[in-house]
Amino acid sequence: MPTAAPGRYAFDNDSPYVEEQHRCLAAALDPITTARLATTGVGPGWRCLEVGAGRGSVALWLAERAAPGGRVLATDLRPEHIPSRPGLETLRHDIVHDPLPEAAFDLIHSRLVLTHLPQRRAVLVRLLRALRPGGWLQLEEFDIDYAPVLLAPDERTRAGYQAFQAAKGRALRAAGADPSWGRSCAADLRAAGFTGVEPVPHLVPWHADSPGLQAQLNHLHHLRDALVAQGLTEDQCAAASEAMRHPAFRAASSVLYCVQARRPS
Ligand SMILES: C[S@@+](CC[C@H](N)C(=O)[O-])C[C@H]1O[C@@H](n2cnc3c(N)ncnc32)[C@H](O)[C@@H]1O
Repeated sequence: MPTAAPGRYAFDNDSPYVEEQHRCLAAALDPITTARLATTGVGPGWRCLEVGAGRGSVALWLAERAAPGGRVLATDLRPEHIPSRPGLETLRHDIVHDPLPEAAFDLIHSRLVLTHLPQRRAVLVRLLRALRPGGWLQLEEFDIDYAPVLLAPDERTRAGYQAFQAAKGRALRAAGADPSWGRSCAADLRAAGFTGVEPVPHLVPWHADSPGLQAQLNHLHHLRDALVAQGLTEDQCAAASEAMRHPAFRAASSVLYCVQARRPS
């Protein structure tokens, strides 16, 4: 995979690793995402926007909730992987540059997209305007700078995993992402003009069977060239892979911030 240029999405949407990446994200995060979305009262008749929908698991959930009478617009740079169903429309759309309708949505959701965008603060203002007055925005974003090893089979695998996490942070930053944006997302939402901003941090244990750790193993392969460009050695790659597949390995997940906010009425 070529190393992403600054300001380009860091992952390769044509990579064979994308499908597994999205499977892991859905398995690890959909329960957190949908439980919080349900607290907005999203239901029949709601007009929803899912930004950077990936494989569309959350967009599908929203379409079920919004039926009958509602509609969900699911966008992505590569929307062809989003399944179709009544009430769910898909659109190839770049949230930084492409037009968005004004005051058109009751609810906008986006997960692990704005972290990648150098223009994320300007995008927040666009999302604010796309909501009806009183409408809801929900974002989930990581702070990957917190990712400690809790138990490792040996020092080599512990150090390999930590070197991988550090190189991943550098690789994402080199592509224009802010991989710790989760911790400042709430403050940026308030600065953009949102009201009722409520961040909730989530942290879970990771072991070999955790979809969250399986996503990390996926990233080790998916971002391989970018990680090597950031100084990760072959031996560190092998040690990190060994760590993440070992039954005795335990880590704390990175902190996921699930943040809700509203457009002022
Ligand atoms: C890490 S994936 C997350 C996918 C999905 N939201 C999830 O949590 O499963 C990021 C997604 O954002 C999309 N994306 C990246 N930059 C984008 C942009 N400027 N506009 C719209 N989508 C974008 C990518 O194509 C990818 O599908």
